[in-house]
Formats: sequence, structure tokens, C-alpha cells
Amino acid sequence: MEPYPLEPFRIKMTEPVRPTTREERERLLQKAGYNVFRLPSWSILVDLLTDSGTGAMSQEQWAALFLGDEAYAGARSFERFQAAVQDYTGKRFVLPVHQGRAAEKILAQALIQPGDTVISNTFFDTTLANFLFRGARAVELPAPESHDFESDAPFKGNVDLAALEQTLQDLKRRGRRVALFTMTITNNTRGGQPVSLDNLRRTAEVLKAYEVPFHIDACRASENAYFIKKREPGQESRSIAEIVRESLSFADVVTMSTKKDGLANVGGFIATDREDLYREFSQYLVLWEGFLTYGGLSGRDLEAIAVGLKESLEESYLAYRIGQVAYLASGLREQGVPVYWPPGGHAVYVDAKAWLPHIPREQFPGQALVVALYREGAVRAVELGSLMFGKEKQVERELVRMALPRRVYTQRHLDHVLETFGRLAPERHRLHGFRIVYEPPYLRHFLAELAPVAP
Ligand SMILES: Cc1ncc(COP(=O)(O)O)c(C=O)c1O
Repeated sequence: MEPYPLEPFRIKMTEPVRPTTREERERLLQKAGYNVFRLPSWSILVDLLTDSGTGAMSQEQWAALFLGDEAYAGARSFERFQAAVQDYTGKRFVLPVHQGRAAEKILAQALIQPGDTVISNTFFDTTLANFLFRGARAVELPAPESHDFESDAPFKGNVDLAALEQTLQDLKRRGRRVALFTMTITNNTRGGQPVSLDNLRRTAEVLKAYEVPFHIDACRASENAYFIKKREPGQESRSIAEIVRESLSFADVVTMSTKKDGLANVGGFIATDREDLYREFSQYLVLWEGFLTYGGLSGRDLEAIAVGLKESLEESYLAYRIGQVAYLASGLREQGVPVYWPPGGHAVYVDAKAWLPHIPREQFPGQALVVALYREGAVRAVELGSLMFGKEKQVERELVRMALPRRVYTQRHLDHVLETFGRLAPERHRLHGFRIVYEPPYLRHFLAELAPVAP
């Protein structure tokens, strides 16, 4: 098992968590329609639903909140935010948004026409939903090695370059327009796996030849850069900041939810060097988010993000963060739980179908595991399988993701998760599946209601 990393911080403020009984959790599950998005957070002991907006801020971030300039236009907080984003991305034009999907909506409106194709190493769910909502057809081309749950390949988040070239050629021959290509770094729905600098560079070359705009979804660009520094030949002596900037230099447009590597609880941005795109995005920003200098955020949010972006580049922080994920993943692997290997940057992914082979796909084995983790140990995880994606695409594996909030949980919390799996293991053949009793047309997993399928 990987050693637990030393935290490069001390804890100055605490938030109580309340113990609950199994009966209480069973009642809450029924009330929530067996959808853990609908559970109250007070009833959760270790919340691994997402790493988005759930991190702990540093003392520097809390202090920066007091500098928030809440002017509608031209706030100093925006100037600091803009400088920090320019520094992080190397891009000239910066537009703040209230969270990542707002950036995706603006991008979709500006670049996609109904009937266009969009291509990606793998889209995140909100990105995919926003692009499909504009009438696009989506193609995902993850690297072949990403299909292997076990191998040690260093960059399983890469796009399959040969398939990309082939797809672009075919679409060109058929007269189909490709609106954009999205590289998600790290690749959230593919195990949080990194994308190499080499893959980014070569993707940019291919896209240039076909005149397709290159979009990077940079939610976890700092974590991605850490993997590049550790795994890509020739990168070991560069700073994380340099690697992030070079990674993003290939993109025409960068979007980021700063709820991840912005180390903030809210926010996001669009950054580009292209003035034509900046002008186009600006009009939608004003329409949907707010004026150009706040984009749906308060001045104090902009301040927290400006500090957080810099902190995410610290190597000691990244070593701790990625070490924590490796600790949990390796602990589960030792217990025989099938986890995506090697561990990614922000989360551990379990193949629920392999662990619960008796539950058919149509009965959502991932959701069965998610419900069992909560019932047994008040641990909240999320299904990334047929419930989340089944309407939009063919799902390869029924995954359960446990995402680690940044700077929040201790080793004992992670040990509690390992122990919960340990208690479930001998009983797992008794777990049963679920059926949907209500679902909305888009992003159904957030709002769906489920009922147990009798064994
Ligand atoms: C890769 C990726 N892109 C986009 C988003 C959307 O960001 P937000 O939740 O801030 O709208 C997320 C959020 O989890 C993500 O992980």
C-alpha cells in the first residue's frame, strides 16, 4: 500500500460531522429516491461525491476575501483575478464565469451550429450535455490504453491521435463541419488520468491542419502538470507553472471551473488569445452571467480564485494531493476491489460491475455500490456509468468515483472508507440493483428518483 503523504499544512478551523445510525440513513435514502445527490450533507461522514467546490481554503485565501471590491464594473478584484488567470494560462483575454458549465454554454453558443461534430479525448458530463443541447454530434476518442483498467501506462488520458486524424479525414470527405475539439485535462471520466505534453502538442498540429479550434477543459491542469513533471521524459526539472502554461499554449480557448484547481468554492473562466472569440464570448457573458469584470461572481470570489490558482501550482501541495488519491486507491486494490490503475489526480474509480457481477447493467450496479457505501458507512460516492451517461452514449464500464475534496480529509477518514469496503465485501452478493422511477431529459443523474429492484 502507498504510504500516506505528509500534509503540507496545519488545520486551523474545523467543521463538525454528525454521526448517524444505519436506520436513519436507510430512511434518508428512501426519502432521496436512492439518489445520493438528494441526501442532506449533515448525514454524511466522508463526502467523496465530488472534488468540485468542496475544498478547504487557505489562510491567504480567507484573508484575500476582505479585499473584495464589489464594484459592478472595473473592480480591482477583477484586475487581480485577470492577472492571476493570465499568469496561469499565458492567455491575454480573460472572462470570469460563475462555474465551469457557464463557460461551456458560452463556448457552445459561439462555436457550435446544429448538426456540427465535436470531438474529445472524453467529454465531462456537463460539457457533453451543453454541446448536445446545441445540436452537436459528439465523438470520443480516448487512447487505446485507457480501456485497460490494469496497465501502468503513464498517460491514459491521452486522445487517440491516429483515430483523431482518421475521423477528421472522414468527416472532411463527407462535408461535415467539426465545430471544435475538447481536451479534458485531467480526463475526469477516464479515471482522472493525465494527458501528456507530447499528446497535446501533436493534437494541436493535427487540428491546425484541419482548421479545427482547440478547446482545453483545464479544470485540473495543475494536477495534470504534476503527472507530466513526474512521468514525461525531459520535464522533471521544470516548474509546474511552466508546464501548465505550455500545456495551455496549444489551445485556442481554455475553459476552467475554478472549483477544482482554482482551489475555490465557486467560479470559473474562459481565456483566449483570439480577440474575435473574446468579443463573441463577451456578448453572451453579459447576457447570461453579468458584466465582463465579475461574470456572476462577487469581488471576494475573484480574490479567492486569484490566490487559489497560484497555490495549486505548489509542488508540495500536489505531492500531498496526488499521494492521498494513491493511498486510497492502493488500499482498495489490496482488498481486491477493482480500481482503475494507475490512480489518477483527484479521484479513485471502482469498476462496480466487476465487483457486483450479479447486478445487470440495466439495474445500475454502480448505483447499487453508491447506495451501499452510504448505508454502511455514511460515505458518499458517485456513479459514473449507465445512470449518468446511459442516455447520451454507450457506456464502457459501470464506474463509481470517489473524488477527494482538496485539503479536507485526514488519513483516518480515508481509512474509514477502506473499512467500509471491507465490511461490504463479504455481503456484496446480497446487494441488489435499482430502476428509475423519474428522470429529466438532460443530466438525469442529478435529479433522478430510483427504486430498489427486488432480488
Ligand atoms: C472536467 C470537468 N469539466 C467541467 C466541469 C463543470 O464544472 P462546474 O461544475 O463548475 O460547472 C467539471 C465539474 O466537475 C469537470 O470535472
